Amino acid sequence: MSKLLVTGRKKLSGEVSVQGAKNSVLPILSASLLARGESVIYNCPDLSDVEASVNILRYLGCRAERSGQTLVINTDGFDRCDIPDSLMRKTRSSIVFLGAVLARAGRVRLSFPGGCEIGLRPIDMHLNALRKLGAEIRERHGCLDCRAPYGLRGCKISLDFPSVGATEHIMIAACLANGTTCVTNAAREPEIRDLADFLNSCGAKIYGAGEGEVVIDGVGSLSGCAHSVIPDRIVAATFMSAAAATGSEITLTDVIPAHLGAVIPVFEDMGCVIRSSGTTLRIGAPERLKPLAAVSTMPYPGFPTDAQAPVMAAACVADGTSVFIENIFENRFRHTRELARMGAKIKTEGRVCVVEGRERLYGAKVDSTDLRGAAALVVASLCAEGKTRIGSIRYLERGYENLEVALSSLGADIKRI
Ligand code: EPZ
Repeated sequence: MSKLLVTGRKKLSGEVSVQGAKNSVLPILSASLLARGESVIYNCPDLSDVEASVNILRYLGCRAERSGQTLVINTDGFDRCDIPDSLMRKTRSSIVFLGAVLARAGRVRLSFPGGCEIGLRPIDMHLNALRKLGAEIRERHGCLDCRAPYGLRGCKISLDFPSVGATEHIMIAACLANGTTCVTNAAREPEIRDLADFLNSCGAKIYGAGEGEVVIDGVGSLSGCAHSVIPDRIVAATFMSAAAATGSEITLTDVIPAHLGAVIPVFEDMGCVIRSSGTTLRIGAPERLKPLAAVSTMPYPGFPTDAQAPVMAAACVADGTSVFIENIFENRFRHTRELARMGAKIKTEGRVCVVEGRERLYGAKVDSTDLRGAAALVVASLCAEGKTRIGSIRYLERGYENLEVALSSLGADIKRI
């Protein structure tokens, strides 16, 4: 099992390009099933979660070939309507294949999805929405048996919570439905807009993606298109956390600063100076960070839950006490136990986490608990005194493309062992 070995307290400098967004390309890969012929996905990050979705597409009879950051998919060989447990369990976003297969073939059989253990992560909103669209879904022995004998039909759907996955699922299922679907209280994340841009390039009619209300006019069929995935705003926030934790100045390229609207002020509150222009963002950190009065994770455009762990790692060495409130997932502080092994002083109480900043963290043997928790351990190891060994980095590989290579290029002493 690979591990990362980091020798901390090295200043970072230089420039790094930010990869394509995992949480954009995953729903786009499911959505590509709706389109006949060939789709070309540019800026597609090479991640284990992406590989998992590619394997599902191949299992369903599609061709999918990667060359560098470009993935070419051809769905003409699509000939199956079931997805085995072994493939479903790899990621959370595999559930979105349900709507895609159902919309294209009228039936599908698959098991419940997997994903990082950051909470129960139910799919009730997904299933309720699909039933409203006319799907007959039977849940039995952890399997979902779904049919839409008369096709899916457009309807009004109001989400109890602006769920990213449920919003994406509805957009995908409704594209080929009879009639118009209107989603209210929809998620507004940039990845929702990117998915709509992909589908509309395939011939779909989706309006208002990225707003609170999305309208999908069903069309007869979709054809493959070429699409370039937006940059990963959470990977950008992770590099910013690394710069903040080590008192460094680095430049990120290929980012969309507008997608970091709630993230940039948090780093400025910690005393960082951020200058952005076009698709470049420069962050300069002080020798000692200021603490964060209170960071509450919220649906977009609020502070993203996925950035909570990496930013917390930087706050562990701030000059004072920071408070984090995790409003999206019920179990997303698992990284705090591992950070404590490095000397962090953290107390959690339900959704509230209090971080008492220390002068210094110390290298230790730590183990990743989930994707963003692993990123937090990397950030902490960069500013810790001595060596840190980070285990279970398979979690990191779900969402970060060669993170250790990128950090090495910035001057970090980090290697895979
Ligand atoms: C997406 O997960 C992202 N994953 C997550 O990123 C991200 O943290 C999350 O959105 C919030 O931004 C992908 O896009 C692949 P939700 P998703 O549905 O769709 C509850 C990462 O680190 N809920 O917006 O699963 C749910 O339990 C990952 O990259 C229901 O109760 O998030 C959670 O508490 C982690 N029932 C809340 O809503 C449902 O049917 C938000 O979940 C669906 C969700």
